[in-house]
Amino acid sequence: MQSFIENIPKAELHVHLEGTLEPELSFALAKKNGVDIPFETPEALVAAYDFHDLPSFLSIYYAGMNVLLDEDDFYQLTYAYLSKARSQEVVYAELFFDPQGHTTRGVSFDTVITGIHKAQLDAEEKLGIKSQLILCFLRDMSAESAMAHLEMAEPYLDWLVGVGLDSDERNNPPIKFTEVFAKAKAMGLKLTMHCDVNQLNTLTHIDQCINTIEVDRIDHGVNSLESDALCEMIKDKKLGLTVCPVSNRFVVQSLTSDEIHSMLDKDMLVTINSDDPAYFRAYLNENFLELQKEGDFDQAQITTMVSNAFKVSWLDEATKNSYLAQVDDFVAQH
Ligand code: ADE
Ligand code: ZN
Repeated sequence: MQSFIENIPKAELHVHLEGTLEPELSFALAKKNGVDIPFETPEALVAAYDFHDLPSFLSIYYAGMNVLLDEDDFYQLTYAYLSKARSQEVVYAELFFDPQGHTTRGVSFDTVITGIHKAQLDAEEKLGIKSQLILCFLRDMSAESAMAHLEMAEPYLDWLVGVGLDSDERNNPPIKFTEVFAKAKAMGLKLTMHCDVNQLNTLTHIDQCINTIEVDRIDHGVNSLESDALCEMIKDKKLGLTVCPVSNRFVVQSLTSDEIHSMLDKDMLVTINSDDPAYFRAYLNENFLELQKEGDFDQAQITTMVSNAFKVSWLDEATKNSYLAQVDDFVAQH
């Protein structure tokens, strides 16, 4: 099972680039940029990671961004993630980034997206990993700020595949961003939003995502299982759910393997992802491996989740089908 998980060609659809910042790179960039980190060593920094809910994670995640200042910093961050992912047989990734986490610190939108984009091009050419970029809005900032950032993105539209919504969900429902997401859709972008596990009013938020925003996918969405009606809508609309087992464990003390079994049993399009792998100390393979151990998933179920990720990805049909054929070939040979 371990070699099956490690070697099957995979897609990752829910990973925050800023959440892939490894402590060693953070220290190197801090030194280069003259930024102070209040820890002696990368190990001491990791030892201070203490997450028990979304806000406690987010405060450490935003503090971590302070070392990212110039275009090359964003290039290095992105290239390092894509190298690591490729070493785990991830052949395709959809990458979130949080421009407001940088523009609010005086780093320009152009600096951020250009560094990321150049690394995506180089990683595809040199490492053979394809990727597309998703601009995430911070839901604890205003809708006006989100709209301003969507406007900043207009000259770079060819570099983006979609928009998402992340950060602190409490009292920041999807409908706060109805106009922003309508404009993004009109610009030809795909739509997704976080419905993190066990958040206040989560069922209302999931319902708004589906029926008001009309998202193309839902990030997390585990609590949808509490409502038969929501599950039916998710199935009817063939919406993918990007579940992040190790990330969930910080909030609900389980990898949500029971819930993932239920989704598979209901034929919901569940996928497995790493979310913020440098902080949660688990990339995609570790998420699959730990989940498999907790939930005793068999190879057919692992294959379904891997295939689901390609199916609900935002690739054209021909490219999707070619990746799905690679998965089938791997399974046939294994
Ligand atoms: N930003 C980065 N990781 C996140 C998560 N898991 N939930 C919400 N916002 C995030
Ligand atoms: Zn996330």
